[in-house]
Amino acid sequence: MKVLVIGSGGREHALCWKIAESIRVSKVFCAPGNGGTQEVAENININPHEIDKLLDFALKESIDLTVVGPEAPLVDGIVDKFNEKGLRIFGVNEKTAKLEGSKIYAKEFMEKYEIPTAKYRRYTNIDKAIKGLDEFDYPLVIKADGLCLGKGVIICNTKEEGVNTLKSMMEDKIFGTAGEAVIIEEFLEGVEASLICLVSQGKLIPMESAQDYKKIFDNDQGPNTGGVGCFSSSNLFDKELERKIQKEILSKIETGFEYEYLDYSGVLFIGLMLTKDMPKVLEFNVRFGDPETEVLIPRLENNIVDILQKTLDGNLREEDLVWTDKKCVTVVATSEGYPGKYEKGKEITGLKDLDEDILLFHNGTKIKDGKVYTNGGRVISVTALGDTLEEARNKIYKNIDKIYFDGMYYRRDIAKI
Ligand code: AMP
Ligand code: GLY
Repeated sequence: MKVLVIGSGGREHALCWKIAESIRVSKVFCAPGNGGTQEVAENININPHEIDKLLDFALKESIDLTVVGPEAPLVDGIVDKFNEKGLRIFGVNEKTAKLEGSKIYAKEFMEKYEIPTAKYRRYTNIDKAIKGLDEFDYPLVIKADGLCLGKGVIICNTKEEGVNTLKSMMEDKIFGTAGEAVIIEEFLEGVEASLICLVSQGKLIPMESAQDYKKIFDNDQGPNTGGVGCFSSSNLFDKELERKIQKEILSKIETGFEYEYLDYSGVLFIGLMLTKDMPKVLEFNVRFGDPETEVLIPRLENNIVDILQKTLDGNLREEDLVWTDKKCVTVVATSEGYPGKYEKGKEITGLKDLDEDILLFHNGTKIKDGKVYTNGGRVISVTALGDTLEEARNKIYKNIDKIYFDGMYYRRDIAKI
């Protein structure tokens, strides 16, 4: 069969790599892909937002299965459009994608089905929003309603910061229409964890847990990023926590899907804050995480194409997912300046000098005349499996300095627990 993966990050490289391993797959395409996907798939020069072009390509090439990486095409209804043409596509439909596309919709869903989450208020009027700040203690969290490329969540420590954030979102419209409506929310303390579930006809099948490092600097300092390191599984997950998550979160989400007539098939990524009292939901995403996928895929022992097909057929069961007991760690090397401004086009060397048991997933690279160049803020995810987290992290830090590009930066404390 022929498979098309949409996207260009480390997530898509990991997916392409695993899909290409399947004996049932004769050809993998990646649109637009990166320097890493090019080694396991054929890159196609179409961007994820060019839905009509992707559709034409899939029809022309008789693609048997399309797998969507990023959220934007899902929110724009790519799944509905492919389905209309009878094409099989892994991802959620437009109606369901609102769980990620609108933070207000997601919070209302959580409220209605009594899913534990931070207390919040929603506003579309700036004066009311500024008054609303007084209902919360500091720090508090302000979130733009719509998609903002991961930049729409601001933690404010003072009223002044709160007022400025509201003004920049609602008056200056730094996020365009995405910030016309906002949420003000209670700040939750705890440890964050990512629980990515496959959703098979409304039933949630959790994958292994993961912990993502969001801040750019060691000891969780500096601005938020898309994620610059990750490990799986989280050592905080035990039977008791899993039971609580199942009862208080997963089963309530399933009820919500049913009552809201959300015909859910694809992925639900639940961002959790493990607070002192109980796990609470920070956010929903309707796609695989990045870099979470880079640490989950190497642990999955199944044929991923079978898993994706079963999910779509509505008959995936928890026992179908087989995981190695090994731990997996990834450290993301980034361009100088990320998550702010950064330059692209720096030559990357040393990639061939790494130990054999290092897995490399490219996040933002490009190959030209046989040389690899940086092409994004997150550049390359250096990944390893080990019997313990320590073993996996030691392998990575023993190897990562063999890689070089001008301005290369990475955190030194990933999976150091
Ligand atoms: P979100 O996109 O809603 O997950 O927010 C991005 C990041 O902001 C999260 O991964 C957290 O690190 C942080 N965050 C969001 N909401 C809260 C909250 N209520 N309390 C503390 N941190 C939060
Ligand atoms: N690593 C977090 C995300 O993919 O949203």
